[in-house]
Order: sequence, then C-alpha cells, then structure tokens
Amino acid sequence: MYKDIKAAVVGSINMDFILKAEKLPEIHENVLGSTYGYANGGKGANQATALARLGAQVKMIGKVADDDNGKSLIANLKANNIDTTCVATDGSQTGLAAILIDGEGRNRIIVYEGANAEIDPKKACEGITTDTELLLIQFETREDVVIECVNKAIEMGITTVIDCGPAKSFSLERMQGATILSPNESETKALTGIYPDTDENILKASEILMERSRAKYIVLKLGERGCTVWDGETIKALPPYKTQVRDTTAAGDCFTGAMALEYVRCGDIYKACELGNKAGAIAVSRVGAQDSMPTIEELDNF
Ligand code: RIB
Repeated sequence: MYKDIKAAVVGSINMDFILKAEKLPEIHENVLGSTYGYANGGKGANQATALARLGAQVKMIGKVADDDNGKSLIANLKANNIDTTCVATDGSQTGLAAILIDGEGRNRIIVYEGANAEIDPKKACEGITTDTELLLIQFETREDVVIECVNKAIEMGITTVIDCGPAKSFSLERMQGATILSPNESETKALTGIYPDTDENILKASEILMERSRAKYIVLKLGERGCTVWDGETIKALPPYKTQVRDTTAAGDCFTGAMALEYVRCGDIYKACELGNKAGAIAVSRVGAQDSMPTIEELDNF
C-alpha cells in the first residue's frame, strides 16, 4: 500500500532509558521503581520507524556519535529497512532520553540532545532530494535545521509534515506553507499560549497556528480525546480508538507517521487522521518507542 512512497525524516535519534514506578517522586522524594530498560527512541527515529513499519521507503537524516548507543541505534534503524546513509556518526555523544513512566502509563521525559544538536543544516538539506515525496520533521533538532529543511521541501513541492514536539516556542513565521502542522496539547500551549481544553480554545489555538505558519492543515493531537483538523474554514474532531494504555511514549510519533503516510497516499486529511488515531492506539498499548510502532498487518487487524 505504501511501498512506493519515498520519505525523508529529519530528526533526533536517542537512546531511551525507561524507568517505571507506580507513583513518580515529588521534589526531594525517593521512591522505588518496578522495572527499567533501554529502548530505541528519538522523535525523528521513532517517526522514521513508524513509516518504515508501514512499508514506506524511508531515509533517516540525523546525527549520532561513534559510541555504543549510536552504533546500536543505527543497527536498529537498518533492521527496520531504513536508509541510514544520511545519518552522520561524528557527533560528540549520542542523544539520550530519561523516561519516567507512572502506574497509569503517563510519562515525563528529559532529553540530553548531544549529537542531535550538532546536525549541520546544509548537510541535512542535501538529503532531501527530487525523488522525496514526504518530508517529516520535528522540533527535537535545532531551529535553523528545521527551518532550512522545511523551506527547501516546500520550494520543491514536497508534502511537508511538521510534528511540533517537544514543546517549545518556535519561529513558525520563518517557514510558511507546510502541508500539515501538528502539535500535541502541551506543544499547542507553548506555541500559542492557549491550552486546547475546550472547543473554543481548540479553535482559537488552531487559528493562531494557521495564521503564523500558513500551513494547509492544523492537526491537534489531543491524547485520549483523539485529534482535530482545522483547514481554515471548518474544525472537525476525530474521536480516538479505545485501548488499554500501558505507555504513551512515542504515541504522538506513531500518529504523525501514519497520518502523514496515509495523507501522501490518498490526499484526504480526515482518512489520514483516522489512521493516525488507530496507529496511536496500538502504540499506547505497548511499552517503548520504536518497538511500539505497528506494522501494516497489525493496523489492518486492529
Ligand atoms: O516522542 C518520544 C520520544 O521523545 C522518545 O523516544 C524520546 O527519545 C524523546 O525524544
């Protein structure tokens, strides 16, 4: 279904250290955890994996260090059939995320950027070539890298999907006219000052985001409330799929990947978001980041 689609993903590649505890500690509190482990993560690499698991031809553009974590992360990308020739390996230290998960599957994440902050914007742009049909990018790399890559892709007429994670302020005005701009709740608040908790606030925030970015669609990821699409005239809510929540890490990455790919295939933003909701529901029912991304068969059987 998606095997002919050529996608480039510019973004972060992190080793995730995941520690679970029934209740996460308050300031100065010490609690016992239940399990811990390491997993392949980073918003860029997670989204690249989401696309590849669904069958697309994916090129990852990013940076790691020539250390054990970097080697293992690249090996995992390759095992998922992702082209890593545009992943530089001369970074100072591979990115790391410390992820704390509570008994209800909610997470808190601290990211050490390392090599991700050292991506050269010119080199990253070189990876976006004339055969690229989809550029997927996030805010977990430097702002100049994001802006240069997005503007190049827009100029080339490539479908450009911007995932606004992690939450931070960003000069959206410096990249006008992407196809889809998609923040989650906290990212929406960081970009607009408005938390999208009511219908009125969802509309207000979507209008601001469209005015600032001139993107064709604003897709808000609203967690257990599903997502909304604003096209400049109508706001539409797409309800979530119900599932047992075990770990919400990378659910947004999974949603954005599946949504972007389906949009390139059919050009229908609502069908695309529907598929994103389904993929995200599968991801939250599993622990981990890249390991929780569904295959096309798993999506069909859900
Ligand atoms: O979106 C989830 C990701 O955020 C994790 O894999 C972690 O690496 C952080 O970057």
